[in-house]
Amino acid sequence: MKCTAIAHANIAFIKYWGKKQDEYRIPYNDSLSLNISGAYTTTTVEVSPTYTEDVIGFIDAQSSESEINRVKKQVDLIRSKAKKPFFAKVLTQNSIPKGIGAASSASGFAALTLAASAAFMLKLSEKELTKIARLGSGSACRSIPDGFVLWHAGNSHDDSYAQSLHPHTYWDICDILVVVDNTMKKVSTTDGMDGVTTSPFFQQRLVSLPQRLQQLKQSLEDKDFSIFGHILESESYNMHAVMLTQEPSLLYWQPATVAALLKVRELRTKGILAFATIDAGPNVHVICQAKDETIVLDAMSSVSHKQLLVNYPAGAARLISDHLF
Ligand code: DP6
Repeated sequence: MKCTAIAHANIAFIKYWGKKQDEYRIPYNDSLSLNISGAYTTTTVEVSPTYTEDVIGFIDAQSSESEINRVKKQVDLIRSKAKKPFFAKVLTQNSIPKGIGAASSASGFAALTLAASAAFMLKLSEKELTKIARLGSGSACRSIPDGFVLWHAGNSHDDSYAQSLHPHTYWDICDILVVVDNTMKKVSTTDGMDGVTTSPFFQQRLVSLPQRLQQLKQSLEDKDFSIFGHILESESYNMHAVMLTQEPSLLYWQPATVAALLKVRELRTKGILAFATIDAGPNVHVICQAKDETIVLDAMSSVSHKQLLVNYPAGAARLISDHLF
């Protein structure tokens, strides 16, 4: 049985930074994200009684032993749920390079989970798929449902899952990703968030998050872009304040990151509603309304960058009929 899935990466507007339970990747807080069109993963999984071991490959990308083992662990988990004794061949292709902070582990584990479940003939609801994707990489659960997605933190494997709040067609906004560095980050998200509780700001962050999430959901409901943007930008700074004050301190930004952040502020002084958010890397996602795409893109081209990627809201992870092998 051979199955192929596509899943989009997502950009978080309320961030996941820290696990209260490592094994099941149960986060401290709920998070909210949007799937983005330009960054996606395609994965083909073939399950066959003729294979004598799992074979994992990436097209156009280097992969470390630990990455391969993480993929193998996910395949193993799905195989044991399906109760099928067969091995699998897995081939993966990313639309943009891994490690540039465009959440390839999210799209990667979402695509792998969907393709492998189908190839092992495991019938799962969307909610179940999000729970299994979460075991591969936390943010991967948010790449399974459509569009604007909420991950309920929960307290156990059973109640930590993601669901769509609004489909990708709900709101014409865009995410201009300013890639200032396209090499792999030095501290992975998994390692980075290990130290989260050492930040003196972390408890305060947790206390303030429910209200911030509520306000963001309301601004989404009202399609109030000004409030939406202010909240998502201050949330990003809040998470980075925690990162910076952890032990050891994490500084993911580069000079060009700060230049991009300043350019976004300059745009706002000119009346253009553009807002910045950054994950665990130096690259800046600039969120704006579709009507302002050209002007924001022009402004961001003037800061030092390796690549500019324009993203639109994207749909759910899905099976496709074109296989990679
Ligand atoms: C900063 O999902 O990559 O992008 O569960 O350890 O694989 P693991 O972490 P991961 O963390 C993403 C962190 C973030 C914020 C976010 O996407 O919410």
